[in-house]
Amino acid sequence: MPYVFDAYGTLFDVHAAIARHRDAAGPDADRFSDIWRTKQLEYTWTLTLAGRYADFWTVTQQALDYTFERVPSVDRALRGRLLDAYLRLDAFPDARQVLHDLKARGARTAILSNGSPAMLSSIVEAAGVKEHLDAVLSVDVLHMFKPRPEVYALVTDRFAVTPAEVTFVSSNRWDVMGAAAFGFRCVWVNRSGMPDEYAALPPAAVIPNLSELLSLP
Ligand code: LAC
Repeated sequence: MPYVFDAYGTLFDVHAAIARHRDAAGPDADRFSDIWRTKQLEYTWTLTLAGRYADFWTVTQQALDYTFERVPSVDRALRGRLLDAYLRLDAFPDARQVLHDLKARGARTAILSNGSPAMLSSIVEAAGVKEHLDAVLSVDVLHMFKPRPEVYALVTDRFAVTPAEVTFVSSNRWDVMGAAAFGFRCVWVNRSGMPDEYAALPPAAVIPNLSELLSLP
């Protein structure tokens, strides 16, 4: 049974980039980080709906530049440092241990992410989780983003399994929606107690942190 993880927001903290430069970013740091993430995701969805593609690194930079326009109190001189931090985002504290324990149980593990191959290889290396992963799958080979079903099929193709055999773990409820529609057994990591959405496509389980994954049947 492969365990497949979303990357950004699930294994790696997308707000860690601004956190490293919080003092320099000033009082609008959190709003800045929220807009950056929201726009980054919006661009993936709108491009995919339009049948267009720019890789996740390009989209991440375009979202950042938009955010500097929207939040002028944050100094543009931070641009390079924020992008550099994005390539080395902190893993959530329990991420490495959970991947290690799943592998020790004999499970296969992977990442399935919108991230470009270069971004993913950088972050996986920096967080020290590379040795605990059997595969790092990027949407880039398809030139389309989640939640297109073709993206989730990268997992079933790679591991030669049916969708129902895959446990898919994401903190992004919209990603769980897409993965559930594809037929994965989904686990939603709801760290901040957000209300549920997409009632027609629910997760099989909801957990407050990655460690709880090890207690699921
Ligand atoms: C990813 C985005 C959804 O890693 O966070 O695919």
